[in-house]
Amino acid sequence: MIRFDFAKFVFFSALVSMFMPILVASQAYATPDENAGKQKASVCMACHGPEGVSANDLWPNLAGQKEEYLFKQLKAFHDGQRYDPLMTPMAKMLSEKEMRDLARYYAKLP
Ligand code: HEC
Repeated sequence: MIRFDFAKFVFFSALVSMFMPILVASQAYATPDENAGKQKASVCMACHGPEGVSANDLWPNLAGQKEEYLFKQLKAFHDGQRYDPLMTPMAKMLSEKEMRDLARYYAKLP
């Protein structure tokens, strides 16, 4: 017969509640967040436009571009496989998570 052991119950409840924030945090880390991307994008607007459409012939539009492509290009700038005197310093400042968020944000723009 299964007896209800209050001490064990309290112990395991405490254990679960201890690790829950870590689980939740790692989940948030894994999923790209377009709102976080939007906030971060304030520094990108100067060149890529407030809505991801650039005002200059040399600066690419980002709005509606494919998410994986955007991430790949940011990562390439970040890692030095792609180089541009304007864009490389921007990508160097970004974490992997921020690049994912930004890619999601720009991909979702019309
Ligand atoms: C000072 C101007 C400037 C700023 C600020 C800037 N970029 Fe760029 N970005 C460029 C230029 C110029 C290019 C094109 C580089 C080239 O010709 O290879 C580019 C290219 C890109 C590309 C590749 C597009 C493609 O079609 O291959 C992505 C993605 C990108 N930028 C994202 C961003 C993000 C995200 C930010 C903000 C964190 C940002 N940029 C901030 C100037 C800028």
